[in-house]
Amino acid sequence: MSRTSPHLHLPPAAGLRRLLAHRFAPVYLAIVILVTVLLVLGHQTEAGSTALASLHAAISKTASSYSGSSYAGSPEYAAAAAKIAAIPDPLAIHQNFKWYTDAKLRNLAACMAKGDCPANAAKVVIFNCWYCYRAIFENYWGGEGVWCRGMKASMERQGYTVLYTNYDWEYAMHIYRQIPDLVVALVSDDDKYNSPAKPYLRSEKNPDGLPAWKHFRFNYYAEGGGTRIGDHWVITCEPEWIEPEHEGWPSFRNFSYIGYSLEPQLQDTRFIPFEERPMRAYVLGKHQTFFYEDHAHVAWKRDTYKRALDEIRKDIPDFEFVGAFFDERGDDEKKKEGPLPLPEGIRNIYPLNATAFDDALSSARMLVGIGWPTASPSPYRALARGVPFLSPFKVRDDGIAEDPYRWSDSQHDSLRLVEPPLVYNVEEFDYNGFVSAIKTAMVTPIEPYVFPRMTRAAMDERIRAWLEADWESEAKYILAQRKAGHETQKGDWVEMFDL
Ligand SMILES: *[C@@H]1O[C@H](CO)[C@@H](O)[C@H](O)[C@H]1NC(C)=O
Ligand SMILES: *[C@@H]1O[C@H](CO)[C@@H](O)[C@H](O)[C@H]1NC(C)=O
Repeated sequence: MSRTSPHLHLPPAAGLRRLLAHRFAPVYLAIVILVTVLLVLGHQTEAGSTALASLHAAISKTASSYSGSSYAGSPEYAAAAAKIAAIPDPLAIHQNFKWYTDAKLRNLAACMAKGDCPANAAKVVIFNCWYCYRAIFENYWGGEGVWCRGMKASMERQGYTVLYTNYDWEYAMHIYRQIPDLVVALVSDDDKYNSPAKPYLRSEKNPDGLPAWKHFRFNYYAEGGGTRIGDHWVITCEPEWIEPEHEGWPSFRNFSYIGYSLEPQLQDTRFIPFEERPMRAYVLGKHQTFFYEDHAHVAWKRDTYKRALDEIRKDIPDFEFVGAFFDERGDDEKKKEGPLPLPEGIRNIYPLNATAFDDALSSARMLVGIGWPTASPSPYRALARGVPFLSPFKVRDDGIAEDPYRWSDSQHDSLRLVEPPLVYNVEEFDYNGFVSAIKTAMVTPIEPYVFPRMTRAAMDERIRAWLEADWESEAKYILAQRKAGHETQKGDWVEMFDL
């Protein structure tokens, strides 16, 4: 970089700011945008642009479906992605998030030049996150995928600009450095708390880096480490189940709960009146391996289902367990371990697509947890359809079943404190408790229920509280206290940082 040209010392965004401040800014920008568009069009084949458009169409279309299982690529997506791969640019393969992000940036530049950006458009969130990339570009519908979609939907309904950089710090910083003042938050996967982020954070040596206070950690469960500044910079999908006043074991951490709103909205959810539903319990899970200790946290012995079926049928002759399970193991694993069949007593209705999964839930009288998957969105979907949830828990060595604060595990932590008839928390391997909860649920109707925290209004409010907060001042305060030897944050991962 030349030291003689003052312009070259500026990060690109400073140049942009200077340009925007000029009274001929709109004219300059219009010219720049026109030239860019012409260059882009000149370089793209027509097939390429069509493919990009159909990819976007496929993304928005698949965004409204739900498979109830993890990964399910749609034919539209596959077709559009195949066309994208035909673009004569090897980087375009599996790099569709860059096309998308670049296009969003062009939109932003255009509306800023014209001065007609929607409210909040000039506040940018970067998801430097593998799960969010998969959710939006690979149709991933696991819990993390549901969460990413929920955040995107709320941010976009309020006008914020949302960009994706997969989990690629170099590319994320390439984007960030073009618009440092516009970026309000960068959300990143960060397994080892702070370390992968470290080289990219602003410091004396790296003045153009990302301020630590704009860096948030993507953390589905309300547990695990914090960030170098403190726990408040960790965003979670579920609220902490322990209240601040119950500080002690395990301690309240003060993460930033963001979560998602339950979609579709209650009024658009299919509800089948209780009397019209068969005497059916839906067994939650997708993989057959969830019934095997070597693979999963197992809550009921494998012979429980047949035994309970026979017993419940003495009172309720047409009672049944259904579920949608498949063996997800690779061929090698299958060969090594042998068959891991679905336990006797469960009727397998696999496969289920989005609609079929919700319909299967709506026509059951209970959703039965088997240990895994933990903190899944499915119990919320069930409750919204008037279907209660049986959630197994494990008691701590020094605990008692009656005190949810002294359980070591629960299939759904944030439902620990919810009581029947909505949620039946039953101690794992308690066969009588299992049977009794199911029998009760078969004859106990509930109203469809959505937690107030899972409405769109509540979700939007949390997003605003997050993106509009003065994180810089809070970080300044924490740092000043830290330098003075007074630690306000928990965890041995906190450390000094530059503002
Ligand atoms: C949680 O963090 C916020 C913001 O730093 C702070 O105002 C609040 O007092 C904290 N709550 C607890 C219980 O530590
Ligand atoms: C889902 O599956 C049901 C039943 O197999 C079928 O009728 C329906 O068309 C499918 N819906 C979609 C969107 O594929």
